[in-house]
Amino acid sequence: MSKKTATILTQDELPTGATTPHVSPLYLSSTFIYPSVEEAQQVFEGKKKAFIYARWSHPNAEIVEQKMEALQTTKKTKALAFNSGMAAISAVFQSLVKPKDVLIVQGNIYGTTVDYVNELAKQMDLQVYFVDFKKTDEIVRICTSHKKVKLFYAESPSNPTIECYDIKKLAGIAHQYGAKLAVDNTFATPLLQQPIALGADFEINSSTKYLNGHGTGVSGIVVGTDAAFMEKQLWKIRKLHGTIVAPFDAWMLNLGMKTLNLRMKAHCENAMKVATFLSQHKAVKKVNYLGLKSHPDHALAKKQMSDFGGVLSFELKNGYKAGLKLMKKVKVCKLTASLGTTDTLIQHPASMSHYFVPKAQREKFGITDGLIRLSVGLEDVEDIISDLEKGL
Ligand SMILES: Cc1ncc(COP(=O)(O)O)c(C=O)c1O
Repeated sequence: MSKKTATILTQDELPTGATTPHVSPLYLSSTFIYPSVEEAQQVFEGKKKAFIYARWSHPNAEIVEQKMEALQTTKKTKALAFNSGMAAISAVFQSLVKPKDVLIVQGNIYGTTVDYVNELAKQMDLQVYFVDFKKTDEIVRICTSHKKVKLFYAESPSNPTIECYDIKKLAGIAHQYGAKLAVDNTFATPLLQQPIALGADFEINSSTKYLNGHGTGVSGIVVGTDAAFMEKQLWKIRKLHGTIVAPFDAWMLNLGMKTLNLRMKAHCENAMKVATFLSQHKAVKKVNYLGLKSHPDHALAKKQMSDFGGVLSFELKNGYKAGLKLMKKVKVCKLTASLGTTDTLIQHPASMSHYFVPKAQREKFGITDGLIRLSVGLEDVEDIISDLEKGL
């Protein structure tokens, strides 16, 4: 049939003889074609699995989801990819929490998560306890003084204080009182720590960070142990809110994940050297890095993680003013809010990542005005150290 110009221009035919591409292609298509009306009906009725509409699911999201499931060392899980770490986190809360529920949330977590939980608490009249997750007696006391606690929310290692929490112990307490445990695993990734193997119900990652690794996209992933819950409740929230990861961001994420194991090794190695340098410098008051034997959580991190991660934080003897000077002077370390990228990123939590957390709430959990966070990159470590040395 000879087609008219407009038809030729609008319609695509895959080239005949096209072979399977070596790298997964980017599926920039909002919908997917069905070979017949009957098959379309079967797909919509859930009798046959196929992609329908890219807000529901799409091949690029499924590729990274399957990788995340395969990375789990113990249980069978289901993963769902979102268009940011915050979309992943908020979907977990929204899928579980009902008005007036009681939640126990770790106090020293990522600032926007605190901001989100505070907002949700107002909207849903929730009773939220922000607690130091090392004080498990306090957690038990809260659980026993309420009929039901719905969710424990942890982040380990914590952003930006770099503390480590006993996930196995927390999961035990949560389950004893009928609560779920969700763990933000962004700083560790499944390569360094397996929250689900340790007993958590959900592992959440801001894959904007190490999993993507290059700072080229924003995304988040939730891995859950209850496949039916993931496929119904969590998937429905993602579909209704339209928070699935975009195909391009998922495609970039998949490229990044190909080198995650090599990058994590190098991040950890460089971070250990930088932490050692800072801990021996006369201008530095305190270094928070789980790999240092002096860190109070070193033994737990050694037991729970396979390495200590690429992020550290520190305070200078001359406090905030000295920190400000350092951040102005550095050149190799880039001043920006994110972490987990190939290059070294420096930031000031009190005025950047944790700006929206009320000062009293932030200081109660150790996020002081003088704290500086460093995400150690993959540059030659001598260049990172000499950059910091000049700044100090
Ligand atoms: C520990 C942690 N969790 C969650 C998030 C939120 O992720 P996103 O920025 O991808 O929404 C961040 C962002 O910095 C983070 O550091």
